[in-house]
Amino acid sequence: MSAIIDKANTLWWYLSRPHYSVQLIQLFRRFLNREKERTRFEATQWCQQVAIPMEEVLRKLGIDKIEYPWEVYPDYWREAERRAKQVPVVMGGAGAVEFIFTATRAFKPTRLVETGVAYGWSTLAMLLGTLERESARVISTDMPYPKMGNEPYVGYVIPEDLRERWILIRKPDILAVPKAIKHFGGTIDFAHYDSDKSYTGRMFTYPRLWKALRNDGILISDDIQDNIAFKEFAQQTGVEPLVFEYKGKYVGVLRKER
Ligand SMILES: C[S@@+](CC[C@H](N)C(=O)[O-])C[C@H]1O[C@@H](n2cnc3c(N)ncnc32)[C@H](O)[C@@H]1O
Repeated sequence: MSAIIDKANTLWWYLSRPHYSVQLIQLFRRFLNREKERTRFEATQWCQQVAIPMEEVLRKLGIDKIEYPWEVYPDYWREAERRAKQVPVVMGGAGAVEFIFTATRAFKPTRLVETGVAYGWSTLAMLLGTLERESARVISTDMPYPKMGNEPYVGYVIPEDLRERWILIRKPDILAVPKAIKHFGGTIDFAHYDSDKSYTGRMFTYPRLWKALRNDGILISDDIQDNIAFKEFAQQTGVEPLVFEYKGKYVGVLRKER
């Protein structure tokens, strides 16, 4: 009974928020894809087989050392940690911030798209990683988890003076990602995927990010052990997937050929 009430409350949450309710289509697609949604075991095994250390992934990308945002920009990072302590709700955990920071410093992208913000740690890593490039802009998409009440705190760790280079689209990926890509005129340099972790969500968004990515651009995806989407998508691109373990989960990287 309580499961039914919970589902009814979730449905009401969506229906009373028209800018998020299109996500109901994705929830229905997840149901149709339910076999693929249950591929965590297979995906985790694959990640375990192909994972290499993060340093090696960076070397394969032509980067010889990891840089840490808290060492390069200690004041910004301290301020972000101070802000995080003020957040009264628990949100999604951070992506592989030092990897994102290092990659953005090395590749010098100016058109960056990120899905999934929560506190904003990966956003901060991207903003700091591109701080020396005045023209760089980060566009993030985020739809809060239903019924969590975390909406006012999305991106809370991002200090005020970095916000002018950041655009947050508060919509589900299904609407927000095409909008973000359009904002950059259809071409992006760098993508970080860390939002809807379902097979359905990934298989909607990965191809769109990939198509928009310029040659030599980079797509990073968090939590790829959740289901087989990243492995399947990597096969479709024909590009060698680079995978590393990060705090008990796996991160996948695809670099578009030059
Ligand atoms: C794991 S957290 C992001 C963590 C963040 N990248 C970081 O490093 O701090 C995932 C975020 O994606 C959002 N999200 C989940 N599904 C989404 C969807 N379909 N569209 C947009 N955002 C979504 C969640 O509400 C949450 O804020």
